[in-house]
This record gives sequence, C-alpha cells and structure tokens, in this order.
Amino acid sequence: MKKRILTGIQSTGIPHLGNILGVIIPSIKLFQKYVNTKQFVFIADLHSLIQENDLKKIQNNTYYIAAAWLSFGLNIEKTLLYRQSDVSSEVTELAWYINCCYPYNRLILSHSFKERNKQHDQTKINVGLLTYPILMAADILLYNAEIIPVGKDQLQHIEITRNAAHKLNKKIGKKLFLLPIPYFHKTTMLIPGINGYKMSKSKNNYINIFSSDDNLKKQIMSIKTDNKLFKDKKNPDQSIIISLYKLIADKNQVEKMKTKYLEGQYGYLEAKLTLYKCLIETFSLERKKFASFINNKALLDNILYSGAKQAKVIANQRLNKIRKHFRFKKIFNI
Ligand code: TRP
Repeated sequence: MKKRILTGIQSTGIPHLGNILGVIIPSIKLFQKYVNTKQFVFIADLHSLIQENDLKKIQNNTYYIAAAWLSFGLNIEKTLLYRQSDVSSEVTELAWYINCCYPYNRLILSHSFKERNKQHDQTKINVGLLTYPILMAADILLYNAEIIPVGKDQLQHIEITRNAAHKLNKKIGKKLFLLPIPYFHKTTMLIPGINGYKMSKSKNNYINIFSSDDNLKKQIMSIKTDNKLFKDKKNPDQSIIISLYKLIADKNQVEKMKTKYLEGQYGYLEAKLTLYKCLIETFSLERKKFASFINNKALLDNILYSGAKQAKVIANQRLNKIRKHFRFKKIFNI
C-alpha cells in the first residue's frame, strides 16, 4: 500500500501567516517530494464547533481554508481536499471506538485541554474540548495515515493518536492501526505574532496575508517594538520584525536589516515597511489566486465534493474492516 500523508486545519478563521509558513507550505513541499504517496488535506469543521458558535462563520471559513491551500498550489490531482463533516459518520464512529479504549485520566492531562480549562469560564467548557484529541486521532487512523504534517503545538495530539492506535490494536487483537509520525519544519517551529507570542487565532496576534493592502499594513505597523528612537542602535536578536522577516526574506536582505539595526539611524517604521513590502511581493501571486478562488464558491464546492467522495470510499473500506474486528456487522445498506 502507498504511504499516506494527511493533515488538517480547523475552520476557525482565514489561515494566517503562522498556518501558512508552519503547515501549508511545508506540507505542499512534502507532497511534492513524496511522489508515490496518497495524500489527504481536510478542513476540520467538526473540530471548530468546539469553540465557535457562529455556524455561518465556520461554513465561510471552510471556503477560506480551501482557497488558501489551493492558492499555495495544492495539487488536487494528487491530494484529496475535503471537509471533515463530509465524512462525519465514518470519523465519529471511529472516534467512539477510540473513546472506549483511551484512558480518561490521560486525556484530562492533555496540554490543550488544561490550557483551555484555565482560560475559560467553567460553564463554557464543553465535552468536545476534552475529546478533541480523540476526534483528531480518528481523522488520522481512519485512513491509516503515517506522516502527519503539523505545527509544534500538535505534537502531543499525535502522541495521543499513536497511543490510541496501540490501544485499538490491543483491543481487537490485530495490528490494524499504524502508528503515525508527525512532520514539522524546524525553522518554522515558532512563528511569532505581532506581540511576540506564538502567532495564533485565539491570541488575536496574527497576520492575515490575504487581507487588503491597507489592512495588512496596519497589522505590520502594530508589531510590538521597544521604544528606541530612530537614531538609536537596536538589537536585531530581540526584534519581532526581524524574526518575521527571516521567515520570508533571503539571507542577504536579512543581514542588511540586521546591520542597519546595529548601526542606528534606522527606525522601526522603516523596518516594518520593508517587511510589509516583502510580504506583498513574496505572496503577490497567492493573494491574487486567493481572491479569485473566494469569488468562485461553486468551483470550491466542486473540488471539496470530489475530494470527499473519494475520501468517503477509502474511509468506508477501512471502517468495514475495523467493524468486523469489533464483531459488528453492517446489515443495512441505506
Ligand atoms: N488539531 C489541528 C489544529 O488545530 C487540526 C486537526 C484536526 C488535525 N485533525 C487533524 C491536524 C488530524 C492533523 C491531523 O491545527
């Protein structure tokens, strides 16, 4: 069987620079490198229900996410692009089998749950927040995916998935589930947001490269700096602007900016404008493509439909096998 690579992004917003540099670009490179693999990219809209009450927003976000992958060159001839909710019955059935063999005590220790548990008013914590990693494990194990491109914050979830695979294998007495491995890019492990903390939707510190020129400029202008003056010498190692610039500019350009920092007579305003221009130039094609995809929802629907149709066939073949091992039989074909 061909090796399978799979990844997903929640539909909680337009993919930001962190998602793009951390997951979308490295995944597409990986897909191109491993020619002889079966590839899956899905939009985790069921996961988004956990934290988003505006259902229309979730629906719109699925289009934004599909458009982002496509504008960065995802090859849909080779990669199935689909919505998680289009294979909802299959994935939630497998999630239940995992629920029944994964220890509750371990799940409550997961970082993501502990963190959210701290942040939220207790009455707002739904069960989905706890079982989030179980559904994620099902997303992966349903296709027996082996390589999972993810951001660093997802590593524990992959560990939970490996554990779940092991426990399922033990429960059914057969090695039906492969233990997946995470794939992530060292250089893009920590992408700072405009306040210096890891860029994330929930921290509201993200950069949206698909927004209008003016809006993008505003975001760049709000990057946090110290209060050194134009004439002052500045420290290039403690600059969010340079950390971001490094991720997109070439080495020479970065060295130039660093030298200017060290020499003084160079303001943060100039540095921000340089970063802004570099973003606009680097992603000019993708920004155009994104706008055209977003204006063609019928095309996006078609692509997602075709991806889901193929994913569903694979998911059902797997699930029938899994069911047999649980000694459940499918008696109706409706
Ligand atoms: N939890 C991932 C995130 O927030 C999204 C996700 C859901 C995922 N299921 C997955 C990623 C399966 C990889 C594989 O980024």
